[in-house]
Amino acid sequence: MLDSLREKVVLIIKQRPNVTPCLQEICELLKKEVPYYDWVGFYFRNGEKEELKLGPYAGEPTDHVIIPFGKGICGQVALSNQNFVVPDVTAQDNYIACSLTVKAEIVVPLFVNGENVGQIDIDSNTPNPFTQDDERFLEFVTAEVAKIL
Ligand code: SME
Repeated sequence: MLDSLREKVVLIIKQRPNVTPCLQEICELLKKEVPYYDWVGFYFRNGEKEELKLGPYAGEPTDHVIIPFGKGICGQVALSNQNFVVPDVTAQDNYIACSLTVKAEIVVPLFVNGENVGQIDIDSNTPNPFTQDDERFLEFVTAEVAKIL
């Protein structure tokens, strides 16, 4: 399933000249097609500030539009430059809850010319749903998106 989505992501990027609608469509595609992706969004570094700002997303609105570097799973990925897979959010001390229904989360950084400029963040209402296939798939998505940033 994730493999067939790669082509669709590439197609969206080809067809949408503007970044925001393109990212919006990717979020909606992923949320719709992957049963355990319940919230899909992009965060980007907010200018020169040491914080992330919410970009396009699909799912329930969140209060966490700004996340300081180091805070929550997202803020930690801004500093670590590494994927963060959380099988059980209740086991995390440094976690920002967006919704009580969320059980698991995955965050994959987005690099442009080697610089960590943002990330894709996915929340799941299913416990422990993410595998290495999700990591590889989301690395593919962030690498494709990086080409148009
Ligand atoms: N749970 C995230 C905050 C962002 S929401 O999931 C949309 C975190 O701990 O960084």
